[in-house]
Amino acid sequence: MRKVLWLSTVIFVCFGALQAAPDSDSGKPQYTSDNKLLAPKNFRQWIFLSSGLGMSYSPQGADHLMFTNVFVPQWAYSEFLKSGKWPEQTMFVVEERGSQTKGSINKAGHFQTDLMGYGVEVKDSTHFPEKWAYFNFEENTKSAQANPKAACFDCHEQHAAVEHSFTQFYPTLKPVAKKFGTYKQERENVD
Ligand code: HEC
Repeated sequence: MRKVLWLSTVIFVCFGALQAAPDSDSGKPQYTSDNKLLAPKNFRQWIFLSSGLGMSYSPQGADHLMFTNVFVPQWAYSEFLKSGKWPEQTMFVVEERGSQTKGSINKAGHFQTDLMGYGVEVKDSTHFPEKWAYFNFEENTKSAQANPKAACFDCHEQHAAVEHSFTQFYPTLKPVAKKFGTYKQERENVD
């Protein structure tokens, strides 16, 4: 009997520890004690919003075209479908991949190649007074500090069509935001 009790205590304690451990798999932001964001796990199992190819925000453009693949967790996507708004603790990932034309049977167009790194955006007013924060990760980075405002925040603040998200470039979400009146149409104007 004693043994059983002891065993169940051990199981209980282990289970508790598991639950308390930071879970960067939840699709919600998790932080280190010094407020660095833990790398989100398994974002490839999130909802895919869209890809950009060689998008550039300066007239000259980039020498080498890169793909940007954008993902958002399933739970936040479902909330957005119901309200046209992003709930607190929404995270986004924009993954950058190289592109290639010649390879295997391909002769024209572009296909995606190696990961060049990824950016993460979170909406979390409990951690950031400005609500939105931005981070850069390499493939094996475990945690990252928020970037200065001028690096990321300002452009998203000034040009994104729904809150800080570039929904003008996500064709499946655009009609949802329009339906709920959260879409800033003027953000489609060409600069
Ligand atoms: C000059 C404007 C500009 C700057 C600066 C910028 N972004 Fe973005 N960002 C964009 C655009 C445009 C998109 C849409 C990309 C697409 O459609 O593939 C985007 C998309 C994103 C997304 C996907 C979710 C969303 O908001 O639509 C993330 C995550 C992101 N950026 C992170 C970052 C990070 C991290 C930085 C700073 C290192 C940064 N961005 C700096 C313009 C910018």
